[in-house]
Amino acid sequence: MHHKNALVEVDGQSVELKVRAGSVGPNVVDIGSIYRQTKMFTYDPGFTSTASCESKITFIDGDEGVLLHRGYPIEQLAEHGDFLEVCYLLLYGELPTAAQKKDFDYRVTHHTMVHEQMSRFFTGFRRDAHPMAVMCGCVGALSAFYHDSTDITDPHQRIVASLRMIAKMPTLAAMAYKYHIGQPFVYPKNDLDYASNFLRMCFAVPCEEYVVNPVLSRAMDRIFILHADHEQNASTSTVRLAGSSGANPFACIAAGIACLWGPAHGGANEAALNMLQEIGSADRIPEYIARAKDKNDPFRLMGFGHRVYKNYDPRAKIMQKTTHEVLGELGHKDDPLLQVAMELERIALTDEYFIEKKLYPNIDFYSGITLKAMGFPTTMFTVLFALARTVGWIAQWNEMIEDPEQRIGRPRQLYIGEPHRDCVRMTER
Ligand code: CMC
Repeated sequence: MHHKNALVEVDGQSVELKVRAGSVGPNVVDIGSIYRQTKMFTYDPGFTSTASCESKITFIDGDEGVLLHRGYPIEQLAEHGDFLEVCYLLLYGELPTAAQKKDFDYRVTHHTMVHEQMSRFFTGFRRDAHPMAVMCGCVGALSAFYHDSTDITDPHQRIVASLRMIAKMPTLAAMAYKYHIGQPFVYPKNDLDYASNFLRMCFAVPCEEYVVNPVLSRAMDRIFILHADHEQNASTSTVRLAGSSGANPFACIAAGIACLWGPAHGGANEAALNMLQEIGSADRIPEYIARAKDKNDPFRLMGFGHRVYKNYDPRAKIMQKTTHEVLGELGHKDDPLLQVAMELERIALTDEYFIEKKLYPNIDFYSGITLKAMGFPTTMFTVLFALARTVGWIAQWNEMIEDPEQRIGRPRQLYIGEPHRDCVRMTER
């Protein structure tokens, strides 16, 4: 779609650049021709003003606090749908009919087992390994097991790889957890829904019947929905960049997991809960607020702030409700961590520093308390995020592969190192 062109003056030379319009949200200035015309690159580390691709999957309006998947608001999807319905929507672009959903559930369910030999990968790790380290390795290893779905030029293989990935991540994540705590792996059970099956693989032991608590399984499912996709965030961009070279999808997802691990991204849920535990009681909050505001102190309030949301993260609102439901069900309503969290949120939302910088709670602020109450150790939090985000990564990867404009992602640089110089023999240095 064309719009009025943009004129940029570079070194006295006027350059005309195409403006492309999105369906909603900001238009973009297409700078693709600027190097050819001016012999200059553009510079935007951190991509604060730069769109890296076209996409039809997810839209965020950060100022308004809006998140849409294929046009549907996250609140409606979380309220009315289940996670696999959202997966279908992200992958195929439309909500499924009842028959399509049944077929999709069946196909995902029947890919949940992993090759038996995968279990050997787990036992190669130390028991105290961080489960994210284990996930980076084991998901990367999938491409060594499923050769029949690594031909990225074949649409059928791409969809099989996508379903495999969505289906096997809960199994692998649960195995990482079981290995961590020294319990036997639990195989998937096909008569359970996605979230219930995952809870069972995590918390069942062979010596007892495991009964899934419907409140917890609904909460788990909602947590998955809330993390399913978030347009071109760091890990998704990593998956796209890795995939742009033609790498197979399993390897690309492993790259995404590595990126997600960092505390500025998916690692924030773990960091947020650790922070709440460190604060410990409401009377210590002012001290931490002061540290967060102190320019000379690197401390940040984890679970606050977002590159795109300059308003309440819409996912955080739903998450807060889920937190209350779960703590109510488990009889943890008076959990001191929840008290600290609610008081911290109240203070931060009325503090001039946070108001001025538009720092609102993000999804990670509440997800940690909920996951902890459900029985997950903090080290598993980012693994759960990776599990849920896999569908977003794989949908974005598919979109990229199908995009006729797709080329290898290859940023340029502003070189500030030594200019040409001749190498001197070691004896003469
Ligand atoms: N506590 C205190 N000050 C903050 C915080 C915070 N959590 N976040 C940002 N600021 C300040 C920051 O110091 C800076 O101040 P100044 O302009 O005076 O230098 C200003 O706000 C802008 O921050 P920025 O680092 O330039 O913003 P960014 O867009 O690069 O960073 C962020 C976004 C999410 C990395 C950052 O807000 C942060 O580190 N938050 C804590 C970690 C966190 O909760 N991350 C989860 C993000 S949501 C889930 C996900 O995407 O994985």
